[in-house]
Amino acid sequence: MNPRSLPSDNDVITFGVIGLGYVGLPLCVEAAESGAFKVIGFDVSKQVVDSVNSGCSHIQDLTDDQVGSLLKRGLIEATCDMSRLAECDAISICVPTPLSKTRDPDVSYISAASEAIAATLRPGQLIVLESTTYPGTTREVLKPNLEKTGLVAGEDFYLCFSPERVDPGNETWTTKNTPKVIGGLTEACGELGQRFYEKFIDKLVRVSSVETAELTKILENTFRAVNIGLVNEIALIADRLGVDVWEAIEAAATKPFGFMKFSPGPGLGGHCIPVDPHYLSWKMRTLNYKTRFIDLASEINSEMPFFVVDKVREVLNCNHRPLNGSSILILGVAYKKDVNDVRESPALDVMQLLRQDGADVRYHDPYVSNLNLKGVELYSEQLTDELLSSADCVVILTDHSDFDYVQIVEEAKALVDTRHAVSGAGLVMDATDSWIMKG
Ligand SMILES: NC(=O)c1ccc[n+]([C@@H]2O[C@H](COP(=O)([O-])OP(=O)(O)OC[C@H]3O[C@@H](n4cnc5c(N)ncnc54)[C@H](O)[C@@H]3O)[C@@H](O)[C@H]2O)c1
Repeated sequence: MNPRSLPSDNDVITFGVIGLGYVGLPLCVEAAESGAFKVIGFDVSKQVVDSVNSGCSHIQDLTDDQVGSLLKRGLIEATCDMSRLAECDAISICVPTPLSKTRDPDVSYISAASEAIAATLRPGQLIVLESTTYPGTTREVLKPNLEKTGLVAGEDFYLCFSPERVDPGNETWTTKNTPKVIGGLTEACGELGQRFYEKFIDKLVRVSSVETAELTKILENTFRAVNIGLVNEIALIADRLGVDVWEAIEAAATKPFGFMKFSPGPGLGGHCIPVDPHYLSWKMRTLNYKTRFIDLASEINSEMPFFVVDKVREVLNCNHRPLNGSSILILGVAYKKDVNDVRESPALDVMQLLRQDGADVRYHDPYVSNLNLKGVELYSEQLTDELLSSADCVVILTDHSDFDYVQIVEEAKALVDTRHAVSGAGLVMDATDSWIMKG
């Protein structure tokens, strides 16, 4: 396969996807459903591979039927055998990019994937990095690892960066209809990458370099982190002023231009927004530049769990109870509504802070059956009137759609609502404080 002679539309391209998580498995399914590919999914986890090969989806946005029917038609399969990367014409890398303990980028998963590709790299292969990372990773980490083979990027094989924009739980914008940005290491790399993805993604946005594509993704996520930081600070300000921050936001959002609505809450969560801007901060530190907006937003967003605990303390105080020894029921521990992902969820911080202060913390989340809080295993309890009324304070941390807010308001002795969910459902919170209801 080369830029000037892509296989014709009737030829089946073998597409390998490394990493079958929230990003990789939907990408496999989208490509396989187009009928233009035979897709092989690669993962180091045998459990993930076995689950896909038995027609099960471990990703909430995909059904077992979707995966099962592609399996039956022979359009998709999963394997731990990395030597089969040799069979692939194009390979996308969708492995994790977490932060290390010192909050520096951990690109070891990208290095491991690139070493696996290098072991069988052959002329003509297209390699695309999709994992979110700092500008420079494709050229400085991936390219040298692949070129150790003696093959040259842009001449013998083709190398691109194309960030994934998947938004778990979003039914409107999917992998297929979300425009996809792509930048090639060379003109030929970009051209081949664009023509490859155009076979199953509606719109490609070509940029001039891998670094531009890398920065585009970090810009998108930094934009969210900074704006959430701003609105969280406005929430702290409004609280001091005695103003309902949500009412002010709704009013501001009536301006038809020049304003974009963001909502305050208990803090940042998920695998992307709290993590990705730190990739850019780290890169810029190596260039003697301090990323002030990112650092400030991170500081404000990390303070929000403390603010929530203060609100719990305040509402308990109104009912003459100390936090120490009180029973607190958390509603929702996922990092956002209607998903089962607790990675970096602010609920973990809030629950930990409450426990440190001696509270007896329980939780209910229809999507998260159990979670580990610094070595302590907690289990989601069934949401009953008794559970709600037995707690000294109920705290809404995630505004899942299927919560019955009328039941919650009726049964809770006291309530802290960090998502404006109760008022959003048409119920009335405390007149003097839009975060709490004293009961
Ligand atoms: N989750 C999102 O909403 C989202 C959105 C956009 C971009 N991203 C980015 O996409 C990347 C992947 O994120 P994710 O949420 O899909 O991660 P994930 O943890 O859900 O899945 C990653 C998978 O990769 C596998 N893996 C790890 N190392 C491997 C290796 N060397 N070879 C093969 N498989 C390996 C893991 O077993 C896991 O199944 C990250 O860089 C992330 O920042 C995520």
